[in-house]
Order: sequence, then structure tokens, then C-alpha cells
Amino acid sequence: MMLQTRPLHPLFGVEVIGVDVRRVAADVFTALVGAFNEHSVLLFRGQRVDDAEQVAFSRRFGPLEATIRTVVSHQGYLPEISNLANVDAEDRMIPAGDKRIAFNAGNQMWHTDSSFKRVPALASLLSGREVPPEGGETEFASMRVAYERLPDATRRLLEGRVAIHSFEYSRGLVGQGLLSPEHAAQVPPVPQALVRANPVHGRKAFFVASHACEIVGMPTEAARALLRDLLDRATAPGLVYTHRWQPGDLVMWDNRCVLHRGRPWDVGRYRRVMHRTTVAGDGPTAPDVAGIAVAPAREADRAWCRAQLTAAGVPAAVLQ
Ligand code: SIN
Repeated sequence: MMLQTRPLHPLFGVEVIGVDVRRVAADVFTALVGAFNEHSVLLFRGQRVDDAEQVAFSRRFGPLEATIRTVVSHQGYLPEISNLANVDAEDRMIPAGDKRIAFNAGNQMWHTDSSFKRVPALASLLSGREVPPEGGETEFASMRVAYERLPDATRRLLEGRVAIHSFEYSRGLVGQGLLSPEHAAQVPPVPQALVRANPVHGRKAFFVASHACEIVGMPTEAARALLRDLLDRATAPGLVYTHRWQPGDLVMWDNRCVLHRGRPWDVGRYRRVMHRTTVAGDGPTAPDVAGIAVAPAREADRAWCRAQLTAAGVPAAVLQ
């Protein structure tokens, strides 16, 4: 079965044409899995799905994650739906200064979904239900493309290494107290392989994110410098695909090898209603590490985060 596709970016990502995700025959589904492994980002336009239909399609790729509890309430939604909207379950717009807006601003840092969980996500599917007329894009960058461009010496340095990812660390960079101790306890720091290979075709990618904050056996400062360097390489000009949303778009990406971030928009003015489902990975990427310690964020780490968010256009008022 040949899918009809059109490139989204010269290096990765395709739009899949002529598929209604509510009705996908088995042979088409097999082709979609192939395209997912090959292209890393798939766009389906014109998909007016509801939550149950989104969940049903997503579940065909594997078991779904349940959303962790945070200041952003997911009450009123299916447990598999992450509500990334600036609109609450009662359909009221969340005011611009609200803590939930600052919390979701963390998604405007480059990350891969759930890399802070022991089993990181395989895939995410983001459905644009209502999209702002300007801003609010989602950007993607391929850690596979960037890995393949690394000098040999850097690839050798990364091979076999394990990074530590922490949601408490990354949200702490955005603002103090965004994650309560009760919520942080759900997501203790976890080890992740720094290099991952796709199990189907073996192509490798490094695996970093705003959540990555230590490398086992490396001093913290050197580790953070290396992690930022990798992030910068992956997201260098010319390597990023910017998705400008149309209502009904469904975008699916491979969290094993793709970074993404949301872009800011005028939250006080425009509704942006995005629902995400997250397909769980099939196991840990690295062995257990005894006595994981994460050094607290330093002023340099916070300054780096502020610089990232400010460069992305996040208003200073959102950052604490
Ligand atoms: C996400 O971080 O999963 C969503 C990004 C976005 O809201 O565009």
C-alpha cells in the first residue's frame, strides 16, 4: 500500500493525503506506521475528530499514557487526553496571568513528551480544535538529522551514556513553585539513554530535551553545556519545521527522535484549543541508576531558559 504524501520540510516530516483517521483500513495503517518510522512527523489535515475518535486512532499505535496531575486540570476530559488549551473544562478562557498559562509555557521550551517518565513516550498526536489566527505554531526539530551531522568524536562521546531527565527541574526553570511537591512526587528524575536507535531501520538519534539536566558520570556544568549544545545543534536555523495550524489538523510525531515546542500567541485574546494523546513507549531506554541526584538549577540555567523563552516570543509577564 503506497501512501500519498507531501514533504513538510526537506529533512523530515510529511503530510499524509487522503486519509480519514476515523476510518483507516489495516493495510493503510501498516503504511502509516512505516511513514511514522521513516519521516518522524505526520500531518493529517481536515480531521474533525472528537476526543473519543482521537483516542481510538491513537490507541492503534499502542497503549496510551494517562495524563499526570498538575496545576492544569484535566477534569472533565478522558484520562488519555491532555488539555493544552487556554480554555478550561467549562469552556472559559484562562486569564493571561494565571499560573496554568505559566505552567503551559514550559511546553514552549524544546522537549520530547514524557522523557521525564521511566518509560518515555513513543508518539504524540496533537489535534488542533481551535487555533489562533496568528502565533501558536508548533515547531519540530529532528534529533536524528542532527545526530547524523555530529562530528565522529561527539558521537563517540555520547555512545552508551545516560542522561537524567527531571520535570521538576525543567518546570523549576520556568518559574518557582509551578510544580507542587505532591505533583513532583509523581515524576521523580529518571535515566534515559543519550543515544537511541530506531528499532525498525536502526537510524540513531540523540535524545535530549529541556528536561535533561545531568549526564551520569559527568560534572553537572559540563553535562548541561553538552546537553544545550546538542539542543542548539538540533534546532539550528534551517533544521526546524514550523507547523502553522489550521482547524482540523492532527499532527503526530515520534518522541524518540523529534523535539518540539509550542510558540506563544496572544492568550488573552485568542482561544487555542489543542488536545493531545500520547502513545506510551515500550520500555525503559536505560538501566536503573542508583542514587540519582539532580543539582538545583543555577542562575546560569535559569538565564538560559529565560533566553530561550524570550527568543521564542514568550512575554516577560508570563515568566516569573
Ligand atoms: C506539546 O508540548 O505537546 C504541545 C505543543 C503545543 O502546544 O504546540
